[in-house]
Amino acid sequence: MSKLERVGKKVIVRPYKKSDYKAWREAYLSISLKPKNKWDITTSRDESNLGKSDFLKILSGQKKNRDDDYFFDFGIFLKNGTLVGGVSIMDISRQVFQNAYLGYRIFNNHWGLGYGKEGVKLALELAFKELKLHRLEAGIEPSNKRSISLAKAIGFKREGYSKKRLFLRGKWLDMVLFVARSEDFGIEWKPLKQKKMVRF
Ligand SMILES: CC(C)(COP(=O)(O)OP(=O)(O)OC[C@H]1O[C@@H](n2cnc3c(N)ncnc32)[C@H](O)[C@@H]1OP(=O)(O)O)[C@@H](O)C(=O)NCCC(=O)NCCS
Repeated sequence: MSKLERVGKKVIVRPYKKSDYKAWREAYLSISLKPKNKWDITTSRDESNLGKSDFLKILSGQKKNRDDDYFFDFGIFLKNGTLVGGVSIMDISRQVFQNAYLGYRIFNNHWGLGYGKEGVKLALELAFKELKLHRLEAGIEPSNKRSISLAKAIGFKREGYSKKRLFLRGKWLDMVLFVARSEDFGIEWKPLKQKKMVRF
C-alpha cells in the first residue's frame, strides 16, 4: 500500500493511478445527472473530454501539485474499484502555519451511504500522519446542512463565522469555518523534514 493511501471499512482514499481510467470515465458518465443542490458541482464532462489523454493530463497535473507540496487530490473508491467521489487537501501553507484547506464531494448517485464521512476521516489521517499538517480548515456555507452534519460527525470544531471568505459561483460568500487539528484526532504533530523555517 502506498504511503498516500488509506483503506477503511467501505472506501479507499488514494491518488488516482493510470489503471483508474475506466473507473474515472464510468463515474463521470454516471453522474451526468442533474445537480441535487447548489454545492453539487460536477465539472461537466462528456464523451469529448473523457478520453485517456484527458485522464493522463489530470494525473500529471495532480502529480505536479503533490511534488510542489501545494495540493493533494485523492479519489474515494469503493473496494470494487468504483470511483464515488474525491477529497482534496488544498493550498498547503507550511512554515509556522502547517495548515491546508479541505474540500470534499461524493458523486450524487452515492449520497447518504456513509462514503463522505469515512472518506474525509481517512483523508484527515493522511493529512496529519503523512503530510504532517497540523490543521485543516473546511469553510462551509451556513445552509449546506449535509456538509455541516458531516463535519460535525467527524469531529471538526466550529471556529467561527467568516464573512466573504471564498469567491464561489461568481461572488464572495460567507462561510462557517470548521477546523480539525491533529491533536484533536489523537495524532501528535511532527514537523515534516523541509527547508529551514524562516526566522522573524
Ligand atoms: C456533503 C457530502 C460530501 C456528503 O456525502 P455523503 O457520502 O452523502 O455523506 P455521508 O453518507 O457520509 O453522511 C455524512 C453525514 O451527512 C448527513 N446526511 C447524510 N445523508 C443526509 C441527508 N439525506 N440529509 C441530511 N443529512 C444527511 C448525516 O448527518 C451523516 O452523518 P451520520 O451518518 O452521522 O448521520 C455530499 O452530499 C456532497 O458531495 N455534496 C455536494 C458537495 C459539497 O457540499 N461538498 C462540501 C462543500 S463544503
